[in-house]
Amino acid sequence: MHSRYAVFGQPIAHSLSPRIHTLFAAQFGIALDYRAIEAGREDFVQVLDAFARNGGRGANVTLPLKEDAAALCAECSERARRCGSVNTLLRVGDMWHGDSTDGAGLLRDLREHHDFDPRDQRILLLGAGGAARAAAFAFIDAGAAELVIANRTFERADTLAAAIDAPSRVAARAWTELSIGDGFDLVVNATAAGHAGAAFDLPCDRLASRTFCYDLSYGKAASPFLDWARATGASHVSDGLGMLVEQAAESFAIWHGRRPDTAPVHAELRAQLVAASKK
Ligand code: ATR
Repeated sequence: MHSRYAVFGQPIAHSLSPRIHTLFAAQFGIALDYRAIEAGREDFVQVLDAFARNGGRGANVTLPLKEDAAALCAECSERARRCGSVNTLLRVGDMWHGDSTDGAGLLRDLREHHDFDPRDQRILLLGAGGAARAAAFAFIDAGAAELVIANRTFERADTLAAAIDAPSRVAARAWTELSIGDGFDLVVNATAAGHAGAAFDLPCDRLASRTFCYDLSYGKAASPFLDWARATGASHVSDGLGMLVEQAAESFAIWHGRRPDTAPVHAELRAQLVAASKK
């Protein structure tokens, strides 16, 4: 029997993870059974139990299950515990071990593909949900000089800033009190605003042209923020497709002990996204 792997979430039908992991496995001649399995918060524990009984060795977990996954693990990595979120499950004996590869995937994409090292940089993070949380810890661990967290609901930004506990480098701001014009090196959109498709709006007429703008989502969901960034003067913008592929590579390495080459996989998915956007 092949070892079984899967991604759990809701909705999950359009997940790119099965394709990504199948391409990674092919690089090593590994015969992989990796599926997308629909599960909501009510039935996740039962569906995951059934998966384990049927030979499930590892799983990715996506919205809205990352916090539930952290709660059901017998053990979590330090980085997963701090984020309160698990995106990678590994079966050890009859228990699940949890890890969070989102932050590492983001850093790797920024450093390897965008020549951006957060060390000593001034970073503005938009959003304070699960995705923002992983990014915020990653930036501070990577040595950012200043991290401003802005969120529509200020209290969530404040709670996240307090959890990071580095007051000399981290501050929370209300969305409406933002002043972006004074020059961030990186602005990251970690809000879910783009999923609704509405135009993006921030109190900023002009970005410094050196400001790099990055959206953690990809495809249509990234367009409102990236369109806003271009219109406001950013010369370098990117969606989060690279982060998706890099966090998957981190998960793959946890399960199989080998690190895949992400470049050809990223290129294939990018070509698919471009083709889909022209339809
Ligand atoms: P995720 O795990 O994807 O981060 P989440 O935890 O539900 O999902 O967080 C969604 C984030 O997007 C939050 O920061 C949310 O802001 P609130 O805390 O104020 O809800 C933000 N968000 C969602 N829709 C938004 C919108 N239309 N404009 C601005 N921020 C939005």
